[in-house]
Amino acid sequence: GVTRHYKFDIKMQNMTRLCQTKSIVTVNGQLPGPRIIAREGDRLLIEVVNNVQYNVTIHWHGVRQLRSGWADGPAYITQCPIQTGQAYVYNFTVTGQRGTLFWHAHISWLRATLYGPIVILPKKHASYPFPQPFKEVPIVFGEWWKADTETIINQALKTGGAPNVSDAFTINGFPGPLSNCSTKDTFKLKVKPGKTYLLRLINAALNDELFFSIANHTLTIVETDAIYVKPFKTHTVLITPGQTTNVLLRTKLKAPNVTFVMAARPYATGPGAFDNTTVTGLLEYAKPSSPSKPKASKLPTLKATLPKFNDTAFAMKFVQKLRSLNTAQFPTKVPQTVDKNFFFTVGLGLNPCPQNQTCQGPNNSMLAASINNVSFVMPSTALLQAHFFKQSNGVFTTDFPTKPPSKFNYTGTPPNNSMVNSGTKVVILPFNTTVELVMQDTSIIGAESHPLHLHGFNFFVVGQGFGNFKPKRDPKNFNLVDPVERNTVGVPSGGWVAIRFVADNPGVWFMHCHLEVHTSWGLKMAWVVMDGKGRKQKLPPPPADLPKC
Ligand code: C2O
Repeated sequence: GVTRHYKFDIKMQNMTRLCQTKSIVTVNGQLPGPRIIAREGDRLLIEVVNNVQYNVTIHWHGVRQLRSGWADGPAYITQCPIQTGQAYVYNFTVTGQRGTLFWHAHISWLRATLYGPIVILPKKHASYPFPQPFKEVPIVFGEWWKADTETIINQALKTGGAPNVSDAFTINGFPGPLSNCSTKDTFKLKVKPGKTYLLRLINAALNDELFFSIANHTLTIVETDAIYVKPFKTHTVLITPGQTTNVLLRTKLKAPNVTFVMAARPYATGPGAFDNTTVTGLLEYAKPSSPSKPKASKLPTLKATLPKFNDTAFAMKFVQKLRSLNTAQFPTKVPQTVDKNFFFTVGLGLNPCPQNQTCQGPNNSMLAASINNVSFVMPSTALLQAHFFKQSNGVFTTDFPTKPPSKFNYTGTPPNNSMVNSGTKVVILPFNTTVELVMQDTSIIGAESHPLHLHGFNFFVVGQGFGNFKPKRDPKNFNLVDPVERNTVGVPSGGWVAIRFVADNPGVWFMHCHLEVHTSWGLKMAWVVMDGKGRKQKLPPPPADLPKC
């Protein structure tokens, strides 16, 4: 591979959306930020210079970071933040992955405006396992707040209530014509008839899983999270924050001067409020010779194609169709045996209100979230440094529970006490441990789908279902042949998901709900993967410019 250089200048930029101008944090003044392009096997050197008043880190979401954990990016997990006026060069090689991923800020809620696509092309002279597209187009979903997102989350964390929902969803930064005075701020994709387009879908939204569809067109799913899947056709794509999906769009042979609407809106099952607006963009067919105005198709067409906001049945059907390609060239290497089993409950819970304060949660409590009832507390120095230099004392403890502290009917009535425990707890894994992890949604505050993201690995989704996981019965139906391989999976609302991965990447790896509000409430933990014996099984020392806390 070759080495590719990028420069990210983190700076403030005025942007006008929904009739209001505000100053936002950007990379190089762009929204979405610049596209990173590499071929499989290339090295990336991305210099990030912080010219804003906030601390910043950037995470290369889904990049495996084999033995390059220092470049992963989550603040206080693998690095201390880049402070104002400082810089850090993220240095990593892209191996064993091809497709679409994305990068985003990984500190507080800065990823509201700091995000952009990562495109990993196949090696030179290698081709896609599907028809060569005529054109490739990133479609990045985001959320727009009129208010400052840092203020919103800080306020919510202080009062223990839910933060305000966003004011609009965006496609490539644009809210589209259904939002206030946004007709001009509409993403338009001009297409030619009878061609194949590769749409690189990225959900960079903070707090909403999304359904996406294009009126009167079917989409063929070919890749998720930078791994090829068995192609299948669908009208609607479900994509959670943290997930990426490549779809082929075959344009119609004859649709001169017609415009079709593309739309996205939430899949939301939780008890809280959510942004229930719809973002639309346009797919415009034009005759190359005729500049005449295209006619917009009617919006009702699109309503028929998007499932209801809480359609868990559709969501389950959709994810069960996802299968790895599993060909001789792209085999699915799902582990057939397991060294260690973990059972994690994921869901909301409560914290007591600090004395002499009024809180907004139920019965004057503060909303919280947890895994196995542990609400993760961010340390004030990076876990990876503490681990590497054997200074974990007072930074983290290694007693993260492998199963829930008490058994209860996870999808039934909540237990009497829904208070969470707090701590910076991790799980230690010897090098090359094969892990099976079952994640069970709880309905403590309400059943809810949680997109769980694991840093540093891809995992195989070997099983999923509704209700309580049954350890005797459910594993018999696990798919150990062609399960989908990804880095973010929705724990089904009122259900469970089982994943397997091999801990072959030494370092400290964050795992968390990719709904930013749940991460802020503590739905996160970290795995510490120890060095192996061989020279190639050890994490090298940190780069000299690694930021200090
Ligand atoms: Cu895309 Cu830890 O995040």
